[in-house]
Amino acid sequence: MSKTALPPAATSPPVRSGLAAVDRYLETGYATVPGMSSRFAAAICCGLLRMQTEMGVGGPAVEIGPFEGRFFIAIAHALAMGETALGIDLFDWPNPEVIDRFQANCAKHGLASGRHMAWKADSRTMTPAELLAKLAGRRPRFVHIDGEHSRAALTKDLELATAVLAPEGAIVLDDMLHPGYPTLMVAVHEYLQRHSEMCVLCIIDRETVVAATKFVLCRADWFKRYEERLLEAYKDNVWPLGADFEPHWCLVLSLDTRLADIV
Ligand SMILES: C[S@@+](CC[C@H](N)C(=O)[O-])C[C@H]1O[C@@H](n2cnc3c(N)ncnc32)[C@H](O)[C@@H]1O
Repeated sequence: MSKTALPPAATSPPVRSGLAAVDRYLETGYATVPGMSSRFAAAICCGLLRMQTEMGVGGPAVEIGPFEGRFFIAIAHALAMGETALGIDLFDWPNPEVIDRFQANCAKHGLASGRHMAWKADSRTMTPAELLAKLAGRRPRFVHIDGEHSRAALTKDLELATAVLAPEGAIVLDDMLHPGYPTLMVAVHEYLQRHSEMCVLCIIDRETVVAATKFVLCRADWFKRYEERLLEAYKDNVWPLGADFEPHWCLVLSLDTRLADIV
């Protein structure tokens, strides 16, 4: 059988974060919570949070658009003692009871009430000062942007996240390279032009069209430190050719690391 005929990752062990509470939730709870982020991306993002803690990087985590909490619960479990996860959502879709389901899912999957906050708010009109006040002045080390999927909203959310982010922090963008949202890439490239201090740390490839690709961004001066650790922890998932952001290159992490069979 040729290499390309193998089903991708069919026999690979599931990718882990290296944090017991997170990996337990990924194993037993993640798929039961409605949501649109992949388990693969959650494991790697929580692995990144573990690396931050190991490097002495602390602070809260923020998600714009936690919905029912699938990805949010994983992130909150990855935080260190005393750190908080904040979920910002309109909490009106598909009905107003979504906030009750979010809270119930957090409780059911072991998040103590002091470790997370839900904020029913519109990120499009939120100022950095308002967000920082909600976080008691602590700059987040991790922001996941998964709110409104328009070019204008992503531009606004990216500026908000960048204004409050800790210098060592990471911003994760959902639904990148998604066939349904082609203009999100325009917002990302315009953002990278405006913010030469930021770069793409890695691309986390999709599992499915629903659980789609994420980009992880960080400050350029943190790129090497994070890349080294990601390479070490997830070497089995490195797609060999990487991603070309002209002239910057970054890692592509995937469950399918094959190349085309050309001979
Ligand atoms: C695709 S869902 C997020 C899925 C979730 N992050 C996950 O991984 O399972 C998008 C969420 O963004 C929220 N949202 C959309 N526009 C928003 C805005 N302007 N401010 C805050 N939340 C918003 C929606 O209410 C919805 O819950």
